[in-house]
Amino acid sequence: MSRTIAILTGGGDCPGLNAVIRAVVRSAVLQHGWRVIGIEDGFDGLVGEPGWRELDLAAVRGILPRGGTILGTSNRGNPLSYPVKEGGETRLIDVSSEVVANFRALGADALIAVGGDGTLKIARTLQDRGMPMVGIPKTIDNDLRCTDVTFGYNTAVGVVTEALDRLHSTAESHQRVMVVEVMGRDAGWIAIESGLAGSADIILIPEIPFDMRAVCDAILRRRQMGSRFSIVVAAEGAFPAEGEKILRKSAETNLGVERLGGVGQLVADEIAERLEVETRVVVLGHVQRGGTPSPFDRILGSRFGIRAVDLVARQKYGRMVALRGRDVIDVEIGDAVMGLNLVDPEGGLTGAAEALGINLGR
Ligand code: F6P
Repeated sequence: MSRTIAILTGGGDCPGLNAVIRAVVRSAVLQHGWRVIGIEDGFDGLVGEPGWRELDLAAVRGILPRGGTILGTSNRGNPLSYPVKEGGETRLIDVSSEVVANFRALGADALIAVGGDGTLKIARTLQDRGMPMVGIPKTIDNDLRCTDVTFGYNTAVGVVTEALDRLHSTAESHQRVMVVEVMGRDAGWIAIESGLAGSADIILIPEIPFDMRAVCDAILRRRQMGSRFSIVVAAEGAFPAEGEKILRKSAETNLGVERLGGVGQLVADEIAERLEVETRVVVLGHVQRGGTPSPFDRILGSRFGIRAVDLVARQKYGRMVALRGRDVIDVEIGDAVMGLNLVDPEGGLTGAAEALGINLGR
């Protein structure tokens, strides 16, 4: 049966999105002879005048190693709570019926939504409102449930690990404490895995509210043992036991979610004051999201794309593709967005870190 499938990428970008798009197009065209259209800028492309383009084999040629997404993305345009300006005021309205109508007018049979928690929650609601949806999990934070890992995460851990390797030599030369702030709003996966791979001395994650005394004691212990520098990795969502997550001063938000940032500076200032040592802060920011995907993410993204097309072929909608062990499987989208995948404070990774003498701020 001839079909038209649509694909969009929503939320923050991450390495591997183009691998997914390429795999969806190649598998839909080569295996099934279907037509694929790409919706531009996430769900924004289905609001108002639709933004879309044909995706044939030529359109996806050469994109496998490219970071970002050729379709564009947005982490502001939630159609269930869409910002419209009226008389200088911004109101949030539900434009999902317009999204469904635009999707139908494009003649598409199914929509593959590639995104994180926010995008997949929207996908689940649209599925309930009559749009045949398939979800593909994406986020460098690796905080989505029901999949062992999301694509993009492996690349981000690689970027941070390389940065930690580079920071070691300069920290040692100047006998400084380097505080490296990495992404991870709610989950400390990037911080703990890159901290382990990059030999951090202290790792602070949102799942373990930190005690500044424990952090400073760890630095002092290192000094007593002859190490005159230390590397601290702090996830942006880490926060002191007696405090709260640190927000950016500017009022900018994503889908009404406040932007985090500043924990690195806070920790560095406290260490400098309490221990009278020189500290420096490195905020890796969007460097972790940009650039070429690792081989692992290229392969995972490709396998996810192929499985999503397979689900459309079997008309198995409302499902999200996922990795379990070495296998790509599918799960209910609703199950994947019920809560987040967090680092277990008493689990294998935190245990390994502490066994290696890494302090976790407790
Ligand atoms: O969800 C991934 C993430 O990288 C978070 O860790 C971070 O808080 C957020 O995206 C930043 O998003 P933006 O692109 O809006 O700055």
